[in-house]
Amino acid sequence: LNYLVDQDRKAISDILLAGLSRLEYRGYDSAGIAINGDEDNQVQIFKQVGKVAALRKLVDEESTNTDKVFNIHSGMAHTRWATHGQPSPINSHPHRSNAQNAFTVVHNGIITNYKELKTLLVNKGYVFESETDTEVVAKLTQYLYDTQVSTGRKPNFVDLVKSVVKELEGAFAFIFKSTYFPNELITTRRGSPLLIGLKTSKKLKVDFLDVEVGTDNTQPQDQTSNVLAVPGTVGGTPLARSQSRAFVTENGEQQPIEYFIASDPSAVVEHTKRVLYLEDDDLAHIQKGELRIHRLKRDDSMSTIRAIQTLEIELAAIMKGQFDSFMQKEIYEQPESVVNTMRGRVHFDNAQVNLGGLRAYLPHIRRCRRIVFIACGTSYHSCIATRQLFEELTEIPISAELASDFLDRRCPIFRDDVCIFVSQSGETADTILAMRYCLERGSLCVGITNTVGSTISRETHCGVHINAGPEIGVASTKAYTSQFIALVMMALQLGDDRVSMLERRKDIIQGLKELPDKIKEVLKLDSQLQQLAQNVLHKEKSLLILGRGLQNATCLEGALKIKEISYMHSEGILAGELKHGPLALIDENMPVILLMTKDSLYPKVRSALEQVTARKGSPIVICNVGDTNLSDDYRTIPVPEVVDSLQGILNIIPLQLLSYHLAVLNGVDVDFPRNLAKSVTVE
Ligand code: G6P
Repeated sequence: LNYLVDQDRKAISDILLAGLSRLEYRGYDSAGIAINGDEDNQVQIFKQVGKVAALRKLVDEESTNTDKVFNIHSGMAHTRWATHGQPSPINSHPHRSNAQNAFTVVHNGIITNYKELKTLLVNKGYVFESETDTEVVAKLTQYLYDTQVSTGRKPNFVDLVKSVVKELEGAFAFIFKSTYFPNELITTRRGSPLLIGLKTSKKLKVDFLDVEVGTDNTQPQDQTSNVLAVPGTVGGTPLARSQSRAFVTENGEQQPIEYFIASDPSAVVEHTKRVLYLEDDDLAHIQKGELRIHRLKRDDSMSTIRAIQTLEIELAAIMKGQFDSFMQKEIYEQPESVVNTMRGRVHFDNAQVNLGGLRAYLPHIRRCRRIVFIACGTSYHSCIATRQLFEELTEIPISAELASDFLDRRCPIFRDDVCIFVSQSGETADTILAMRYCLERGSLCVGITNTVGSTISRETHCGVHINAGPEIGVASTKAYTSQFIALVMMALQLGDDRVSMLERRKDIIQGLKELPDKIKEVLKLDSQLQQLAQNVLHKEKSLLILGRGLQNATCLEGALKIKEISYMHSEGILAGELKHGPLALIDENMPVILLMTKDSLYPKVRSALEQVTARKGSPIVICNVGDTNLSDDYRTIPVPEVVDSLQGILNIIPLQLLSYHLAVLNGVDVDFPRNLAKSVTVE
């Protein structure tokens, strides 16, 4: 989604399509693009079902590439993951207001009152092409525009979009483009992420700069309130408005600016690292190379400063490198990603942990009545995996909640609760809604995310970035192990005022030190796991994963990995529950994996093994290297031993690899399993 100066249409569409490919992990059932036509006031739309590559093919086939170079040129594009209406070209974005493409809109989010608006517009004679909520927005814009024009007054684009957004309920990040307002783009958000990348061809004079934001939406068109791409102040020195069309570079020259609007930094990072994150109810207007930020609503408590930040991710970090898929690369990155999570935080020499983002809040957290973990999917499993250690080291009551269920139940939350939101993306809608619910009730909110600048990391009171690096594969792998470690570090830090726990804490910190090498050992099992997938499990319909205690989370997470990317049914089962139902499934044909690494529950897991073999089952056992209690009759996956509360990090890796090989054997596009999205930004 972007805006360029002095570029031809082919360059625009290439940049947009490349940016879309990087966003595919957010959803990928269809994609579309709108770019200027041969004349400035024309807009052409291309849409296609499937991945971005299919759209690229369509654009290449159908777009006539003129040699004309435009003074100012813009385009926008979108990759969709259906919430309303099935995947089809007609339902994909951009949506338009009429056959002339007078207004085109792309949207991330959900408009919850779209049915009422649609009824109103249908009664006014509008004919809808799609089943989406977004098309209502395009048609509503046209309706409000026509209504104003019929009274003899052509509205400006900003006021028009403000009046549209006023009618909407739900969550959104939009871009609007119009043939009536050539050379202008508008983007606005509420509840969905949005950022603007700023690129100049020469280095900027300033390292840091603020953009003032107008707050008074009663003003006609920013008389005084808004300042543009050039800020009101740069390093404290006001800039003259005459320089407003350009940044000033180091040697004092003015430079045109290219703007890249996106929902995620990975779409823009190859062009620029300078980005400005929009807040809820910000509306950014780009016109003739100038950027202004307006507010949809007046909010005196909101800062009027939007800092331009420098992204810290490298493009290389989001490329696949030598691997066949991002997921495979991310599994193999774990010896390094766990080190990155601990770097500068775990001090092995004096067995101390210091999480800077939590330090100021530690007394508050230690005094709390209970800690509530809230998350979805894999992130929820990292909470289950570490809950026991929190209970042991802090003696604070802990509960772990799935965000959607937590909201459904409208759980009682109080000021003396501490709520911890774990989310790789920091943008999962259910987790964000749960966070806002807890903020409203006055509890301390802690964010554990992998995405700096994400909604959860910005809106929580404090938190920890897991620093695992970008995770692109839909199936979460390295984020899980890094979340696990971040939570272990947090439990260690919270418990460091208890002398009785000193030895235990030392053992765990020693375990953290040993982890990277032990993960490397586990990764050496890869070819054995590939054989197991191919020769034993590939043709099976179902797979049960059994374990208990600290390995409960490993069972749940392993089963999730297998079902989400190989499409094989899999269930994680607490071995303690075996005789209360699941045992009925066991016979000589039911594949079972049993987690039987050494911890205090080992004897109980051993009895589960016996119960399964007594029913003619022949489980594959994930055990510690050199476990002499297991006879040669068992097929084993031997992993190194580490302190019990970290063993789950080593045990999940064989299951990640197994799911990967099963998916490859089943012909699944491993990074993009059907019907799933990396970041679920809708409820
Ligand atoms: C989706 C992804 C999962 C992820 C979950 C939570 O379902 O496919 O891999 O675990 O969302 O995402 P979060 O970004 O909040 O960790």
